[in-house]
Amino acid sequence: MTITIRQATIYDLQAIQNANLHNLPENYMLKYYMYHILSWPQASYVATTTDLSTYEHDEEAQTVDKYSQKKIDESKTDPSYANPKEKVVGYILGKMEDDPNPEDKTPHGHVTSISVIRTYRRMGIAEKLMRQSLYSLCECYGAKYVSLHVRVSNRAALHLYRDTLQFTVLKIEKSYYADKEDAYSMKKELVLEELVPSLFQKSEFVDDFEKDLLSDEED
Ligand SMILES: CC(C)(COP(=O)(O)OP(=O)(O)OC[C@H]1O[C@@H](n2cnc3c(N)ncnc32)[C@H](O)[C@@H]1OP(=O)(O)O)[C@@H](O)C(=O)NCCC(=O)NCCS
Repeated sequence: MTITIRQATIYDLQAIQNANLHNLPENYMLKYYMYHILSWPQASYVATTTDLSTYEHDEEAQTVDKYSQKKIDESKTDPSYANPKEKVVGYILGKMEDDPNPEDKTPHGHVTSISVIRTYRRMGIAEKLMRQSLYSLCECYGAKYVSLHVRVSNRAALHLYRDTLQFTVLKIEKSYYADKEDAYSMKKELVLEELVPSLFQKSEFVDDFEKDLLSDEED
């Protein structure tokens, strides 16, 4: 199955909101997603697949129109499709700190939200989304560090941040969430050379950014 990580655009807003509603209790108005994408276009990404036939384009599961009895193309009814052939399976929403009176004036980024739809979890998609966003926050917006909050009970996300990506826990914020659960406030210092996404590619091919790949193809 092929998964593509690409920059999020306003055409993905509905799919992002849909994934957010299905995966997290922290939900936002559509304009807040739009604010991220328009203000810091390089900070938010989506993971998509066009490989639908092999994985979950289940003939049996297709909806049938009540009157005509014709099968309805699920890309027209399922909000997770960014376009008829591309399904959004995960997203990350990132931003720069834009509080006019921040506690810390050092330019820094913030991960507002990340999620991967259930059937696509544990494939490394969230790690890739995070690495891409952290790299861009540092390279494009000069972020010196990035911060985020996570529920103390969220083992999967905590593993991702603390163990995979080496975020550190700054403090516990009591009753941070609407349901009064505590949050870990976490932070990671950003060093551009250490964030280059190709460093974390698990395949053998690593782009050294020096060879002209197209001219190699022609040879
Ligand atoms: C948290 C979440 C985004 C992880 O997505 P994912 O694509 O499954 O994560 P990855 O496959 O990239 O895994 C990254 C690491 O976390 C680990 N991990 C993932 N799910 C895990 C789980 N349920 N329990 C323990 N570790 C887990 C993976 O093993 C991997 O560790 P490794 O680097 O040691 O191999 C996903 O579970 C999710 O969408 N959860 C609901 C939304 C959410 O909680 N978002 C975070 C809000 S702060």
